[in-house]
Amino acid sequence: MGVAQRNGLRSCARLTRGHKITIALLTILFVIYHSTPYDSRPRAFVRFQQNNVEDYIQNNYPSDSWLLRPQQYPINPDRDIGVILKTGYGTRHRVNALLQALSNETFFSDTIVVQDFPVIEEIQKNYSLANGKVVPAIDIIGWNLKRGALNGTENLERIRKYKHLAAAVEAEEWMLSDGIGRNMGWELDAMKVGRPLATLQLSSRRSNNLQFLPSLEYAWLNMPKKKWYLVLDDDTYIIKPSLTLLLGHLNPAKPTFLGNPVGDYKGRFPHGGSSVIISGSAVSKLYDGHPDVVAEGHQESPTATWGDKLLSTTFMKIGVYLDETYRRMFNGENPWMTRMWVDRFCLPVVSFHGLGEGDSMEQVGNTFKHMEAPVFWRQLADIYGAYNFSSFHQDPVRANMDFVGRLDEYSTTFTDVNDMPQCIKLCGQHRNACLAWTFDPALRVCHIAPWAIIGDLAEGRFSGVNAPLAEWIANKCHTPS
Ligand SMILES: *[C@@H]1O[C@H](CO)[C@@H](O)[C@H](O)[C@H]1NC(C)=O
Ligand SMILES: *[C@@H]1O[C@H](CO)[C@@H](O)[C@H](O)[C@H]1NC(C)=O
Ligand SMILES: *[C@@H]1O[C@H](CO)[C@@H](O)[C@H](O)[C@H]1NC(C)=O
Ligand SMILES: *[C@@H]1O[C@H](CO)[C@@H](O)[C@H](O)[C@H]1NC(C)=O
Repeated sequence: MGVAQRNGLRSCARLTRGHKITIALLTILFVIYHSTPYDSRPRAFVRFQQNNVEDYIQNNYPSDSWLLRPQQYPINPDRDIGVILKTGYGTRHRVNALLQALSNETFFSDTIVVQDFPVIEEIQKNYSLANGKVVPAIDIIGWNLKRGALNGTENLERIRKYKHLAAAVEAEEWMLSDGIGRNMGWELDAMKVGRPLATLQLSSRRSNNLQFLPSLEYAWLNMPKKKWYLVLDDDTYIIKPSLTLLLGHLNPAKPTFLGNPVGDYKGRFPHGGSSVIISGSAVSKLYDGHPDVVAEGHQESPTATWGDKLLSTTFMKIGVYLDETYRRMFNGENPWMTRMWVDRFCLPVVSFHGLGEGDSMEQVGNTFKHMEAPVFWRQLADIYGAYNFSSFHQDPVRANMDFVGRLDEYSTTFTDVNDMPQCIKLCGQHRNACLAWTFDPALRVCHIAPWAIIGDLAEGRFSGVNAPLAEWIANKCHTPS
């Protein structure tokens, strides 16, 4: 017996009572933790704290070192990704623009359009991609009802509304169905609940409760064995080279669920509009391995508040959690309002959202269709021909502009600020928390934020970007191999 081993044994024997009790308690906690269900609160809490720690590290020491490593799981998007495009009666006109935009960047993956109203063969044709690939349209709620997954829920309000709309569409009462379609969109679209009517109409999120679970199942049955499934809203654009780069680093054989997380620790879920990515193995584990859990999810769907949350809580039950490691690549905003955060300068941006109005999808499509390399957050200003961050060295202030944009809990607003130099000074004092500042002389307020937008016209305001910070971070970025 070696000396070290003997010492080890002796010190083990010398454990005090206090030590033994501590070890026993820790063991009990460990056992309790692992015997609680996957979606239990203790587990959710621990996961949440773990994500917070990772988040803190990325905020303070942004790292893109994974980009330097070679891709271990390179993919061919045309073959390996199945795209599920969600639309509703009120927004169906957006689908063609999106399919065109994806075609323009040669994103020719197998794609289905899932909608919340019946497909009338004589009126509605299947969609297609520019290379001729057929994109079938599926009435996903009807499909789910027909096969009995929603048995017992027929009298719930959302199902009644669907049936009412379906009957109207089938009767070719297009005028009438237009009215109901809009109404039902508001009812079914959980993200819209509780907002004033005007914003409801403009809001483009379609996280439809009755669509998420059956859509993924339909895709699994009809586009089987894809490495990855991508769920999109009809106003979401995807930058193909960025997506390909990200997925090339991830193992599709591992049950994985990726997106832009929202919600509190009990049920983190990905924001549907920023797009959601699910590995084929996660889909297989859910639908092939746990039909009982799926059936339960379908039964909950008519009363669940959020469709994207229902997907997440269903996956949680089988131990597949939203992976927040890559959350910074999913973007819920349009390019003009996209906040280039300090902590994601060096990372690729995968999505844009909120492209439902006017020709914004076409504009974005035409801007990004020729990108052959991944697009990084820090490049957006240059791509849009906006002010280069370095130009703020010579000229630190721009009049009638705003580089902060939308305020939230991560921005800071100072009141009673006398003049612009004071605002610039405040920005300097919060070095890592201030990439952009905006001063409003009329209100005497100064806003600072750890991000910058490409710049918005704002009468009477003064604004600028913290060039030294922007350059310091940009200089640390790696280029992917
Ligand atoms: C649409 O596509 C589906 C599936 O490929 C096919 O069964 C259906 O006949 C097509 N409908 C039309 C109108 O082309
Ligand atoms: C749903 O109900 C129909 C008719 O009421 C029945 O034929 C069918 O088997 C049921 N399906 C399921 C999955 O319960
Ligand atoms: C696709 O490309 C064509 C031809 O360059 C262009 O006219 C059209 O606007 C583009 N559409 C979208 C949605 O990007
Ligand atoms: C700004 O301009 C410099 C010099 O022209 C260039 O190297 C840099 O990539 C540009 N973009 C940013 C974000 O600084």
